Formats: sequence, structure tokens, C-alpha cells
Amino acid sequence: MRIMLRTLIFLSAGIGMALTACSETTGGSVTSGAGGMVGTALPCAVDEILELRCRECHAAEPQFGAPMPLSSREDLLALSLDGSTTVADMVVQRMADTDAIMPPPPNTPASKAELAAIESWIADGHPPRPEGEMCQGAGGSGGSGLDCTPDLQIRAMKPFAMTPGAADEQVCFGVEVPASGTKRHITVIAPKIDNSKIIHHILLLSSSTAVSAEPASCALASSEWKLLYAWGPGTPPHKLPPEAGFPIEASQDMHLVLQIHYSNLSMLEDQSDHSGLELCTTTDLREHDADIMALGGIAFSGIAPNAISSLSCSTEIPALLAPFLPLKVFQSWPHMHRTGHRLSTVAKHPGGETSTLADVKNYSFDYQITYPNDVELEAGALMKTTCTWKNDTPQSIGFGERTEDEMCFNFVSYYPRIEAEQWHWLLPAVTATCGPVEVE
Ligand code: HEC
Repeated sequence: MRIMLRTLIFLSAGIGMALTACSETTGGSVTSGAGGMVGTALPCAVDEILELRCRECHAAEPQFGAPMPLSSREDLLALSLDGSTTVADMVVQRMADTDAIMPPPPNTPASKAELAAIESWIADGHPPRPEGEMCQGAGGSGGSGLDCTPDLQIRAMKPFAMTPGAADEQVCFGVEVPASGTKRHITVIAPKIDNSKIIHHILLLSSSTAVSAEPASCALASSEWKLLYAWGPGTPPHKLPPEAGFPIEASQDMHLVLQIHYSNLSMLEDQSDHSGLELCTTTDLREHDADIMALGGIAFSGIAPNAISSLSCSTEIPALLAPFLPLKVFQSWPHMHRTGHRLSTVAKHPGGETSTLADVKNYSFDYQITYPNDVELEAGALMKTTCTWKNDTPQSIGFGERTEDEMCFNFVSYYPRIEAEQWHWLLPAVTATCGPVEVE
């Protein structure tokens, strides 16, 4: 993700007002699930087949005319439409029914082994997923390892097909979460990986305006996009602290953006992917709304050519925020561009003691993940972010949004959300004082 310079200049001119524009554009697919009960998950052997072959339509919120969900164990134990038998029995009938086969053409039919797996689950008496069972790959759904059952699925409307011959592709698309009339909190964000052969990393951002649902190449991002979650192989689901949630407002659509980076270095042919994320949300609101703010800085002009150099940017928690203090920071997302080498953020508390929010010693643009934090910031706390760049080019590099430019940001998740008039989430970085430091 890169930030648009224009908005930052706008901000540094002192007009730090958030832009709020909403439009009615529809987004990618959002499916609400059966709800918050544990023990409703299906064993992976069954769940993965339904996920792969059926939930395009039989999602928790059924799509494309499908009459019922096939998400949870309850869904399968319910009565079939005509009331003659269970949905589970009807499932095996229809999967084998050559006249009215499910999934309908042109979808790939289930294999004999897949049908047999569902038949044997029925013969075993429909057991729930054993505690602790973790589903892999295509079917990593159903709340495994989470303390909740995901009820929102965030992914593109259809699988994304990699451009033939492309080794690397980065796409962005919008997903709309329509206002439901009831405020919700996002409590868990988990990856939902489809094609593990090409998926490289996934970013979830919230936008102040709706973004097109059509996956488009995205070298540029907007400064109106706030990072909620960053996944790379090995990143666990993000469970928000029990006293906070990212808000989905009652009467305001939430505009989400997924940025997905694909890598196909071995040039496998015909690769497509339908990865995304699963969210647990709740109407049982937590004590605080969580939000994001930018630490780091933009006040630098030239990173010396053919050299390693460091810059430190410091910003103090201003008195303006008194009603919201102390702030609790629970996640850091360090962000630089290609020459970024190292990034640290240290908070110096008024009493003199320090807390480290981030210390990434081998920063890589291609592995931008989030780091958990548990740090309290009180009035007067000084946040110092130090960025180190390894500039192998013969040019000096300045701050900016292009790939050739550089950045020095640590986007942190915190609560309670600051709602002051003059506040903008980029302000701490925009107003920071920056200066060169010796490379350690
Ligand atoms: C492309 C969308 C789509 C996919 C994929 C799909 N279905 Fe369906 N399914 C439908 C639609 C539409 C209906 C209702 C019309 C009908 O019965 O043919 C339906 C009906 C059914 C019914 C009848 C329900 C009842 O109680 O009478 C069953 C059972 C079913 N599907 C099972 C499955 C299974 C199992 C899969 C995956 C192996 C699957 N479907 C995949 C669209 C889909």
C-alpha cells in the first residue's frame, strides 16, 4: 500500500479534517453466517467439500437462488424443503442426481470420494467438528482455532484468474458491508485461503468511500484506507482485545478493501484464487470502538544514494486527546517501500520508561505483516519511529507514493477511538518532527 501524497500535503497544511463521502456502489461478496455459537462447525472432511463445491451459492446467506445455507452442522440437520427428510440426506441425493445435479453445471461436480465422505459422515450420526481440529487449505473455515464462528466472509465476487505469464500481481477490490440498522463490532479477522500455491499476502483496509468490486491492479492506494489486518503465510487470525472491536455502524455502510498479492514464480498455468478473510462480528458490543492512527513521519527529502541511512520521527500524544486517554495500542503495521530495511517504534512514557511497539530488523516490502501490541499511551507519551533504508540506487530518494519513493509509517490499531474535531488519523505522522540518526 502506498499513500497519496496529495492528501498528506493537504493535511500538513493544517486542515486535518477527515473526508466523509459515501456512495451506494455494491461490493464483493459478503455473507453473513449462522451466528455465534461454538460447536456448530462441521468436521473438516465435510466442511471443505461444501466450501469448495457448494457455498458459492449455499452460503450462510444463500446466493444465486439457492434455497438454504450449507454452512453449519445445524444447516445440514434441518428439514429439507419438502419436509420429507434432512438437508444432509438431500445433499447426497442431489450430488448423485444426474438429472438435477448439485452443484449445477457448469460447476465441476463433486468426485466419488467427496460424495463418499459426506455419506460416511451421515452414517456416523452427523458428528460435530472435534474440538481443536484445524481445517487446511481450501476449507479453512468454520471457526477452527477461533473462539467464535465467522459470520462475515470478505472476498471477491468470483475467483481471480492470474494473467497468463505474470509472475507477480497485486489486485485491490472493494467489498461493501451494508448497514443493518444495528451497530456491530468486528472481533476476529481470520484468513480464508483458497489457492495456497499463489497467494502471497492479503491486506484488509477500511475506506471512507466505496471502492469498485472489480479486482484491479493497485500500485496506488489511498490515504483514506486504514489497515485493519495484514496476513502473510504463518500470520494467525487477529483476535481483538476483549474490550474493543472495529465498529460497523448501524446506519452507515462499511467500505472494505482487500488488497491481495499473488506470486507465481514457478509459472504454474491457469492459476486462479478465491482467497479472502472471515470475520466474527457481534451486536453484543464491546466497551470500546477501535481505530487506526499513523505513527512515523513524512518530513524527509533525500535518502542518500548508495548508502544505508536512518531517520527518526517523534510525536507526542497531544493534550487535545485528554478525554480519550489513556490509549491502548494493540497492533502495529510497519510500512515502508522497497528500500525499507528496518523499522522500530518506541514509546517513551512521561515517567521515563519505554515500551517497544515494533522492532522489525529485516523489513521486507513483500512480507508486511502485523505485530501484536499491548501498550498504554498516556498524555505526554513520546512515540519515536525510526526507519532505516538501504538505498542501492545512484539516486537520492524522497518521501512519496510511487514505488521509487519511500515511506516511514507504523500504522497502529488502538482504542478508544478518537473522535475529536481536529483529529485525523494521519495527524501524528504528519505533525512529527523528523531528523537523521546514526545507523545502528
Ligand atoms: C451455482 C449455485 C449452486 C451451487 C454451486 C450449488 N447449488 Fe444447490 N441449489 C442451487 C439452487 C438455485 C437450488 C434451488 C433449485 C433446485 O433445487 O435445483 C439448489 C438446491 C439444492 C438442494 C435442494 C434443497 C431441498 O431441500 O430441496 C440441495 C440439497 C442442494 N442444492 C445441495 C447442493 C450441494 C450439496 C451443493 C454442492 C455439492 C450445491 N447444492 C451447490 C444452487 C447451487
